Amino acid sequence: MQPAAPRLARCRWPWPWLCVCLCVWPWAPRAVAAPPSLVLVLADDLGYGDLSGCGHPSSDTPHLDGLAAAGLRFTDFYASSPVCSPSRAALLTGRYQTRSGVYPGVFYPGSRGGLPLAEVTLAELLKAQGYATAMVGKWHLGLGANGSFLPVHQGFDHFLGVPYSHDQGPCQNLTCFPPDTACFGTCDQGVVPVPLLLNRSIVQQPVAFPRLVPHYTKFAQDFIADCARHGRPFLLYYASHHTHYPQFASQGYAGRSRRGPFGDALLELDGAVGSLLQALRDHGLDGHTLVFFTSDNGPETMRMARGGSSGLLKCGKGTTYEGGMREPAVAYWPGRIAPGVTHELASTLDILPTMAALAGAPLPDVELDGYDLTPVLFGQGPSPRQTMFYYPPAPSKALGVFAVRQGKYKAHFFTQGAFHSDTTPDAACHGLTPLTPHEPPLLFDLESDPAENYDLLQSSTAPSPVVLRALKEIQMQKMQFDQRMVFGDSQMKKGSDPALEPCCVPACTPKPSCCRCP
Ligand SMILES: *[C@@H]1O[C@H](CO)[C@@H](O)[C@H](O)[C@H]1NC(C)=O
Ligand SMILES: *[C@@H]1O[C@H](CO)[C@@H](O)[C@H](O)[C@H]1NC(C)=O
Repeated sequence: MQPAAPRLARCRWPWPWLCVCLCVWPWAPRAVAAPPSLVLVLADDLGYGDLSGCGHPSSDTPHLDGLAAAGLRFTDFYASSPVCSPSRAALLTGRYQTRSGVYPGVFYPGSRGGLPLAEVTLAELLKAQGYATAMVGKWHLGLGANGSFLPVHQGFDHFLGVPYSHDQGPCQNLTCFPPDTACFGTCDQGVVPVPLLLNRSIVQQPVAFPRLVPHYTKFAQDFIADCARHGRPFLLYYASHHTHYPQFASQGYAGRSRRGPFGDALLELDGAVGSLLQALRDHGLDGHTLVFFTSDNGPETMRMARGGSSGLLKCGKGTTYEGGMREPAVAYWPGRIAPGVTHELASTLDILPTMAALAGAPLPDVELDGYDLTPVLFGQGPSPRQTMFYYPPAPSKALGVFAVRQGKYKAHFFTQGAFHSDTTPDAACHGLTPLTPHEPPLLFDLESDPAENYDLLQSSTAPSPVVLRALKEIQMQKMQFDQRMVFGDSQMKKGSDPALEPCCVPACTPKPSCCRCP
């Protein structure tokens, strides 16, 4: 159903009866147009080339492929950052991470900072409209003293999940099936074992990873069932740990993929999406729910065969090349969103304004960087987004954005490798490749050259006037954007305090290893 606000706006007619006809028909065939429910599924370090439906030869993702086939698949969809915490901050606020101060890099178990409580999250926005809100999975937007930055303080009524990345704690022998068998990966040492939280309480520490996803699925199913029972619209934010390193999978998935451990993790993510869709169908909610799927950033190729794949795109996580930020994305809403593929430009930044429009929620009174994508979703027009700005993991006011895309052209003003993008044959991606300014910028046509191989300004033929005009326009966009951007105080610069690490037995010794739930 159309959101109520625009329909009411059309009603300023001198002849009320005419208005009633225009407003009620044909946009609202049912008597009551309740706002839709919203399911936002976020994968972790999943690359542009990782899904079988997007061409990966040995991945197995039947549910995600089905979602893409029956929904609207985006080819030109971007995360706002090539690393996790900033990307998630932007997803939930519709604002670049620079504004909220979620930079440089990511949060750690003892971080003092978090997504500032003054930021208005998607959950807060929808809660104010009467939505029930729940989050399951990886948060990574801070914990803080007394858990003050946890989801339950950011608009989510319910939370079951891990407050940060699941490699930010000693993970040896925790990621294999059966649990406690010796397995791959040691993760971060010298911090507390990774905890599982229910609202604000630690319910498991360390997490038994191979049993985690079934637990998440049950929680999500119960939430959906509860909302269905009460006839309440809801927001479910399902932030999977898959396919981040170290990969794990539960009994039904471990060892089942052709692609090895990464493929198993992806298969389990795919199965979880299948369960969510089934739960919506079971409660007759599938025609009344928007399901949106994407990932937080590109693949961590330093993990080699356990890293993901950006497919034909250049580099991966940590870089401002396409592989770092361009992501698979699907909007699925049977009966409302026509199946298809869109090449319109879109971003995780647009999710808040789009979902706000669908819920009829007023936008927060702050500087937003996102756009309402409903015209794209419903095939009514082009994307309101014409540009995408690429910030590195450690943005600064001095350098501003590293790259800008406008239309099909992308200019790199700075490039830098990232250790996350190590081990592939392309040295430009690697961590030891230093920050390099480009004047003139590197300029690529992302339609004829999505892999960013052929700099239009370095080709043997002189650039056409069209290309030069595009370059000038992009240079102006960068200047204006950088000038306007107001950097919030860095939350990461507040540092860490081991005493803030979550501990199931607060008074135990010796820390951090004693932090284990009985
Ligand atoms: C955390 O909670 C404890 C006990 O309720 C309280 O004494 C302490 O002041 C709180 N700390 C912060 C930073 O809020
Ligand atoms: C989590 O908090 C919500 C209130 O926001 C409450 O309704 C719910 O019961 C809590 N869940 C648990 C398991 O305590």
